[in-house]
Amino acid sequence: MSKHIVAKVYDIPVGKRKIVEVNGRSIGIFNINGQFFAIRNRCPHEGAELCTGTVTGLRQSNTPGDYQWDREGEIVRCPWHGWEFDIKTGQSWFDPTRVRVRPYSVTVESDVAEYQPGPFKAETYLTTVEEQYIVIDLSFSSLSS
Ligand code: FES
Repeated sequence: MSKHIVAKVYDIPVGKRKIVEVNGRSIGIFNINGQFFAIRNRCPHEGAELCTGTVTGLRQSNTPGDYQWDREGEIVRCPWHGWEFDIKTGQSWFDPTRVRVRPYSVTVESDVAEYQPGPFKAETYLTTVEEQYIVIDLSFSSLSS
């Protein structure tokens, strides 16, 4: 079993993140507009704690002098040298086919009794559907499908 309960849904409000340790791996979980995404908290450049970096968006341009701000809250910038990664996929912005940080599959579930209690231990007597938990699957990378 490689699914792990890492938090309650309400522990990570929209626009926030939580860094957890699961099986010796540091993983950042981000809430982007109510959807949860997880990436390894280790920059592939020189190993900085990537998920502690600034969460930002993208400035794009099709013509000189015409800029659009897009994808607010979906990009994390490494705190050491500024490499940027797509939180939803783990792909780097500057070289998306070759450089990425590992993404993990995240689900929101109510019935979690069969999963590993780490680092969050779910109560075993769930009585309401509002008690939903964030579950990470370490065996599945969201880029592998
Ligand atoms: S360690 Fe992340 S950009 Fe250098």
